Amino acid sequence: MGAGKSDYFPLKGGDFSDAGVGSKCLRSELAEMGVPGETIRRAAICAFEAEINVIIHAVAGSLNYRIEGDEIKITVTDMGPGIEDIGLAMKEGYTTAPDWAREFGWGSGMGLPNIKKNADALQIDSVPGEGTTLEIIINLRADGQK
Ligand SMILES: Nc1ncnc2c1ncn2[C@@H]1O[C@H](COP(=O)(O)OP(=O)(O)OP(=O)(O)O)[C@@H](O)[C@H]1O
Ligand SMILES: [Mg+2]
Repeated sequence: MGAGKSDYFPLKGGDFSDAGVGSKCLRSELAEMGVPGETIRRAAICAFEAEINVIIHAVAGSLNYRIEGDEIKITVTDMGPGIEDIGLAMKEGYTTAPDWAREFGWGSGMGLPNIKKNADALQIDSVPGEGTTLEIIINLRADGQK
């Protein structure tokens, strides 16, 4: 494999126009590389849920992906407000989504659990008042199974 592929996408709180841009790009990059559909699906779900979380819950941030060696690394970072209790945020159904986001159908409290379910590894670092960083790893295995 060559030097690997990476890309960067800015995200802005409250602005759905950026929603799905990074995850879609990652999806087509992986398809072009001939990655199994199941792996692409898992990577795209993780990237999309993380993008939406920045748009709904945060002020501004970015998605960066890197496909290198035998893994895809997706880093989604933002500038606050941060997550007070990560254990609670990981619980299915827990949400603090504002009304405007619920009107778009978001706010089931399923995004982070869904990322956890689909990622091979997930690390969440968050400092209240400063921001949150998700590091998601998807292994590039031949069969695409987790
Ligand atoms: N980037 C973030 N910054 C601040 N808080 C966040 C962030 N991502 C998640 N959270 C907190 O964790 C909670 C759970 O997130 P999760 O993605 O599971 O559900 P949701 O975004 O509320 O709803 P859904 O993802 O189903 O639309 C959020 O409601 C919010 O309180
Ligand atoms: Mg969410």
